[in-house]
Amino acid sequence: MTLLKVEGLLKSFGGVTAIADLDFEVPEGVVYSIIGPNGAGKTTLFNMLSGIYIPDEGSISLNGKDMVGLSPHKIARSGVARTFQNLQIFFNMSVLENVLVGCHLRIKENLISTALRLPMAVREEAKAKQWAIDALNFCGLGEYISSPSDALSYGVLKRMEIARALAMKPSIIMMDEPAAGLNDTETAEMLSLIRRISESGITVLLVEHNMNLVMQVSDRVLVLDYGSRLAEGSTEEIQNNPQVIAAYLGTDTNDGVIGTKTGGSHYAV
Ligand SMILES: Nc1ncnc2c1ncn2[C@@H]1O[C@H](COP(=O)(O)OP(=O)(O)O)[C@@H](O)[C@H]1O
Ligand SMILES: [Mg+2]
Repeated sequence: MTLLKVEGLLKSFGGVTAIADLDFEVPEGVVYSIIGPNGAGKTTLFNMLSGIYIPDEGSISLNGKDMVGLSPHKIARSGVARTFQNLQIFFNMSVLENVLVGCHLRIKENLISTALRLPMAVREEAKAKQWAIDALNFCGLGEYISSPSDALSYGVLKRMEIARALAMKPSIIMMDEPAAGLNDTETAEMLSLIRRISESGITVLLVEHNMNLVMQVSDRVLVLDYGSRLAEGSTEEIQNNPQVIAAYLGTDTNDGVIGTKTGGSHYAV
């Protein structure tokens, strides 16, 4: 069954077309990766899917429901969670507090009942706390629940952001470069976390430059080229696609990371 359907999507900034007439469909339950060099439009696409940018043209539907024009808040409430390419963390708060920020999008809150500490508000707060703790444990961060966020390693912070997204109990999670800046051990932990998220029934939309990770974890891959679709298919189809090989997986790019090393293509940065 199709969970997310994008048709004729277009977004430009001044003279730059970041996403150009893009179509793709994400089946429910898969890990769906979007790859392409820096500037291909991946983050812009996530910003449209999460309601931060409004597309110039085209449609986005989730479970058959049109999402274009809904606020980021409404989209989050309908089950779409995301993490950011650059960490969005409140360093003056604890790990648990950072994750609770995610839950507050999802629980039933009302200023008056919260201020008066009515039983419903107290119940909802306890529920939010439990969801946050569950999400942190799920991400292997149980030991950091009360830690201040400013004392943690980058790998832990990246997983904390994922915990915050999971605490919203999403049906789909979008991750923008979750392995960027991670060392090999942290990358392996990230790979296993993405697998566990997928096994728990959440559809995963992944933007990632680390091709080893992408090819190990994905069910399907969309290759973006200047905002358009260059190829789409299973990991095997993508790895054997001559156009993709010429553009990205170039023969001398053997560190498994695109966009950071010359691969004999004009896409290297
Ligand atoms: N807010 C913005 N204003 C102007 N140009 C933007 C903005 N966001 C993205 N772009 C441009 O859109 C293109 C795609 O960028 P982006 O979506 O960040 O690519 P990626 O995430 O694939 O590296 C780039 O040329 C970028 O400079
Ligand atoms: Mg980006």
